[in-house]
Amino acid sequence: MIFTDMELREILLTEDNVFLEELYSRAREAAKATFSNKIYIRALIEFSNYCKEGCYYCGINRTKTSVKRFRLKEEEIYSAVESAYEAGFRTFVLQGGEDMHFTDEAFARIISHLHETYDAAITLSLGVRSKEAYKMFKDAGADRFLLRHETADAEIFKKLHPAEQSLERRLRAIYDLKELGYQVGTGFMVGAPYTSVDSYIKDVKLIRDIDPAMIGMGPFIPSKGTRFESYPHGTVEMTRKLLAVLRLEHPKALIPSTTALNTIDDNGRKLGILSGANVIMPNVSPKFARESYNLYDGKKASGLEAIEGVRALNDYLKEFGYEIEFSRGDYNV
Ligand code: 5AD
Repeated sequence: MIFTDMELREILLTEDNVFLEELYSRAREAAKATFSNKIYIRALIEFSNYCKEGCYYCGINRTKTSVKRFRLKEEEIYSAVESAYEAGFRTFVLQGGEDMHFTDEAFARIISHLHETYDAAITLSLGVRSKEAYKMFKDAGADRFLLRHETADAEIFKKLHPAEQSLERRLRAIYDLKELGYQVGTGFMVGAPYTSVDSYIKDVKLIRDIDPAMIGMGPFIPSKGTRFESYPHGTVEMTRKLLAVLRLEHPKALIPSTTALNTIDDNGRKLGILSGANVIMPNVSPKFARESYNLYDGKKASGLEAIEGVRALNDYLKEFGYEIEFSRGDYNV
């Protein structure tokens, strides 16, 4: 289904809990119609927190001096993947800052190694690169790519990023990835500075145009040492509303219940799923890396968030009627 602008405005502004519970319940039913009660899991490997970009909201942006920088060696990436595979994961997500120490060739080599060694999906989340690089990664065996548009309002985008970045450049990369045949994920932060109901309506409509396989959306959370350090975090309620709207508009999309949502609310995982999310991305990075990969303050990286927790995660999901699905979980049109 597609909401009109007026319906979107009404949903995003309402405080009527009966109305909202009804919305969330419809979103859950839409997810169940496609995925039954299964929650897909993706092994998240944070391979580097070096970044050449200066996104003003981000806790690992290049200007932050207080960050302890790390970069996994290829062998450390492989051993994280190996443990994840043994734990049952069949999607690996290589996520990192825009770290040019990893050349296009280096990534291509890592991707081909993983592709040849494991019967599993490879997802990349490593920012903007050239179309040629994206093609090289695809040819090496990458299946999916996550690249959020962050906000669909070009003016707000400019206020959140240094001048060398633009919404246009981000969108070009997203469309390059689509053209190359990736399953593409996009998304935005809820409650980031300057965003509003008007900008979220633009986000929903942009996501309609992109028609992504995956939609990643979580609350903005301030990070100390960034210019937005004293801004409030996005709310659980607004995140849930947008999750539900996007689930209803994209019944087949893979939508995670994000770590950010779980960071602002101990029940975040569950609340995300009960609003239509159907993916969880536990962190399987080595411990030292997890501790330094802080896009925002207070980020959770243990327990149900991490590799140790697969069984505990399944028990947790069962309490409200869901269970882990271990297969690759590709997007099916
Ligand atoms: N709060 C919430 N999400 C953030 N991201 C970056 N910084 C923050 C923050 N302070 C998100 C961005 C990026 C993704 C990897 O993490 O949306 O695309």
